[in-house]
Parts: sequence; C-alpha cells; structure tokens
Amino acid sequence: MPSVNYLPDDVEVEVQDGESLLAASRRTGVPHAQVCGGAGQCSTCRVLVEDGLEHCSTREAREEKVAKRLGFGPTIRLACQTRVTGAVRVRRLVVDERDKALANLLQPERAIASIGVQRDLAVLFSDIRDFTTLSEGLTPYDVIHLLNRFFERVEELVARHGGTVNNLMGDGFMALFGFKDSQQACARAVRCGLDLVAAAEDLSPYAVRLSGKALRIGVGIHYGPVVLGALGPRSHTRLAAIGDTVNMASRVESQTKASGAKLLVSATCRERIAEGLALGRELRVELKGKAGTHTLYEVLGLA
Ligand code: FES
Repeated sequence: MPSVNYLPDDVEVEVQDGESLLAASRRTGVPHAQVCGGAGQCSTCRVLVEDGLEHCSTREAREEKVAKRLGFGPTIRLACQTRVTGAVRVRRLVVDERDKALANLLQPERAIASIGVQRDLAVLFSDIRDFTTLSEGLTPYDVIHLLNRFFERVEELVARHGGTVNNLMGDGFMALFGFKDSQQACARAVRCGLDLVAAAEDLSPYAVRLSGKALRIGVGIHYGPVVLGALGPRSHTRLAAIGDTVNMASRVESQTKASGAKLLVSATCRERIAEGLALGRELRVELKGKAGTHTLYEVLGLA
C-alpha cells in the first residue's frame, strides 16, 4: 500500500486508494494547513517532496496554475491535489500561523519566501554618491523629502522593468530581477539601471536647488544563484536575499565609486544580454573579499 512519511512530524501513514495526501493527513490526525478546504486555491497545504517524487501523480491544470503563479519548482506540491502510488516522504511547509501569514497567493515573492529557495536572479545595487556631503546643511525635512522623491522613482522604475525592490539601506537599495523570467533578468536589470541613472539626473536640479550639490548614483549588477527566504521576527519579516551573488553585486556597485562609472555589470551579467549594449570601459579589478581579478563592463546605453 502507498505510504507517506510526514516531516517535521516524522509520522508514517498508509494512503488509501485514490486518497490525496491532504485527505490522508486529515484522516490520520496529522496537522495540515488547508485554508481553502482542498480546492487547490490557497496553496497552504503545500509540501516539499523529499523522496518518492516518481510516486506522485502529475500536476493537473488547477495545481499547475498555482505552481506557475507562485514559482513552485517540481518538488513543491499541493497535498490536496497530489495522489501517491508508492512510498513518499514529504515535509509540510506551512506548519504554524506565521507560515500561514506568509503563504500569500497574491504575492509570488512572499510565497517563495515562506519556503526558502534558491533562484538565479540579477541583483542590482545602487546608492547615491556622497550623500553625506550632499545632505550636509539640509534640514532633516529636506533630507527625508529628497530621499523619498528618489525612492518613489526607484520603485516605479524597478516595477516597470519587472523587478522588485528588496531592501533599502539608507541612501542605497537592492533590487532583484528574474522571478518570472530568468532569461531576461540581466537585460531587464540593465535597462532599469540606465533609467535609474537618468532619473537621478532628472532629479539633480532639485537637489542642486536645495543643497547646491548634484544628485548622482552608481549602479552595479551581477547575476547568479540567490538564496531567498523570510527572515526576521514576526513583526519585521521580510524577503531576504542571501549569498555570494548578492555580495558580488554589492562589490560591483562599489567599483562605480572607484572608477567614476555610472553603471557597471559583471562579465556574467553581460554574457546573458543578447541585445547590443553601448559599452564604455572594460575594467580588470580586484574586489574586496573576492579572490583574483574580475572583469567589469561600463554600460553607457543600449546600442
Ligand atoms: S488546501 Fe488549499 S490548495 Fe490545498
């Protein structure tokens, strides 16, 4: 008889003919979130198939639709839609109220965060050049007002290019591209980077009027695997992006200060852009905390 081993409970249950994983857990008293009652809509019954994926039924249209919308890989299954023909081991992914709050169908990034996944993404870092100097002599009101005007444009442009602002850090920020289409991640990030540079130049006369100093930004972009997950206490949970790709993107952005470039991309990022780029300098640099030398490309525009 088919069976399922539930983690983190470590409970072994026999599955009856035609029974879904959710039905099996409900029959045997394994606690299993199921906000929509098994209609294949809420996704809270999601499980990670750790073993025996070959014994699971293939996804039908309803589950496929949810999986596509939330970016679930093949091993994340809806227990209410999955039937098994052999032994499987699954991990329940929504185990408490906190997980339930994170399992939001309408926000794919949050759905991903509740699981903890690795994705290939383009990571864009940017900050305002010499913001401390620029803000000297400004009233606190003007400092916050100027930053908010800038970040409003940032959010608008990042969204327009299909990205997500992931983190604000004082006068800098990080944005991620490629949740829906990893192939286009770098091209989208670079187009966004060019628009961000132009937006800062548009806002610069306003900064000059306030402080006498121009508003300039630097943008650095790298592409690679990023670990995504919900981090922080319940009141401050956010989607965190972690890993070497993030560190590298930050280092690339730092090089814009040293080189005076507005937009720099790593060689990995450049290789992934099929369309023509108007390139400036090719830099061979050492990056803090990274072994060897690295090639970075200055992007001046689209060819
Ligand atoms: S219980 Fe809602 S999708 Fe399975």
